[in-house]
Amino acid sequence: MKAVTWQGKRDVRVEDVPDPRIEQPTDAVIRVTSTNICGSDLHLYEVLSAFMEPGDILGHEAMGVVEEVGSEVTNIKPGDRVVIPFQMSCGHCFMCDERLYSQCETTQVKEYGSGAALFGYSKLYGEVPGGQAEFLRVPQAQFTPIKVPDGLPDERFVYLSDVLPTAWQAVEYAGVPKGGTVAVLGLGPIGDMSSRIAMHHGARVIGVDMVPERIGRAAARGVETLDLNEHGDNLGDVVREMTGGRGPDSVIDAVGMEAHGSGVPKMAQTLTGLLPDKIAEPLMQRVGVDRLTALYTAIDMVRRGGTISLSGVYGGATDPLPMLTMFDKQLQLRMGQANVKRWVDDILPLLLNADSDPLGVDDFATHRIPLDEAPQAYETFQKKQDGMVKVVMHP
Ligand SMILES: NC(=O)c1ccc[n+]([C@@H]2O[C@H](COP(=O)([O-])OP(=O)(O)OC[C@H]3O[C@@H](n4cnc5c(N)ncnc54)[C@H](O)[C@@H]3O)[C@@H](O)[C@H]2O)c1
Ligand SMILES: [Zn+2]
Ligand SMILES: [Zn+2]
Repeated sequence: MKAVTWQGKRDVRVEDVPDPRIEQPTDAVIRVTSTNICGSDLHLYEVLSAFMEPGDILGHEAMGVVEEVGSEVTNIKPGDRVVIPFQMSCGHCFMCDERLYSQCETTQVKEYGSGAALFGYSKLYGEVPGGQAEFLRVPQAQFTPIKVPDGLPDERFVYLSDVLPTAWQAVEYAGVPKGGTVAVLGLGPIGDMSSRIAMHHGARVIGVDMVPERIGRAAARGVETLDLNEHGDNLGDVVREMTGGRGPDSVIDAVGMEAHGSGVPKMAQTLTGLLPDKIAEPLMQRVGVDRLTALYTAIDMVRRGGTISLSGVYGGATDPLPMLTMFDKQLQLRMGQANVKRWVDDILPLLLNADSDPLGVDDFATHRIPLDEAPQAYETFQKKQDGMVKVVMHP
């Protein structure tokens, strides 16, 4: 089959690889019909290179049709239409019972001290072959897949793999009080969708980014937008002015470790990227740092007693945080990989009516391409060119 493979820093290629097959009685194999590129893939593209091996198949946002199931998989059958969450979860461990599916104890990657295994996401998360491919082996298929009905196009459902539950959790964790205000930092797919969901819940949303098309897209849906290029130095003051001098009740950081505007950590990330993997890997696990501009902005901006919800991924081991301010302001901080299946029952009703599309999933993608064009798309997406916000690939 054809698959998008990681070959090195900023080097992604479509290659012929062996078809996946059932390896465990709890596996399924699906034929992929739609599969997206995610901001998280960009971390692998460059900063997290040390944890990748040439040939690793990328991708964690796939949906398709079940081809084959193992003997212990009874919840789905060949021909069923399914969306595959970006994490694998068993559905019967302590963490799954708590509905903390991204912490599943059956698939946790203990070697690296990580949570549940993720598709296409480096050694840190189990080095499981990903979904940017014609076929995908799904471990823990007795629980992991989300069954969706026939009749509506893929783009109605494909974002259940990541963007929708991640944004939903970001908003839940932000705990915006009734009639309150949330600031969303970063208007990529995650920030954009978080804004839509927060507005759907009735919140006032202030969105921040620096890419004109992304700002425009959010503004068109009613977000009060701010351009980082214009307000970068006094963003906190500007937002306080918009919120009665106090700051927003909650801030969602949908930027993460590669924030624009972080000089020294950017240099550190670039330098570790130049080291051989054998040296870089332990170094990143012990002294790695993130680019923390967005998080610092959130800490400064949020009102006293407010909540910061991190959906942007961080990976530093020794990040310096302004504990004085955080303690004094009595902040609450919530974060983590989305527990995908926890939110599906909340989200699905918003997707099932052909005549209404409250979250705007039908035209959420800006680019639809065949798998072969993945290498170019990764480059364009990283550079945020060509108005690219979300790419859906059709293998
Ligand atoms: N928690 C989860 O389960 C989960 C799931 C999916 C993605 N993510 C993470 O969410 C983050 C966003 O994902 P995405 O797909 O939207 O990525 P993206 O890279 O497309 O979006 C990030 C946006 O942030 C903007 N930005 C950069 N620096 C900024 C700053 N200092 N202030 C404000 N905006 C800034 C960029 O211009 C860009 O538009 C990534 O870190 C990704 O890894 C987390
Ligand atoms: Zn993703
Ligand atoms: Zn589990």
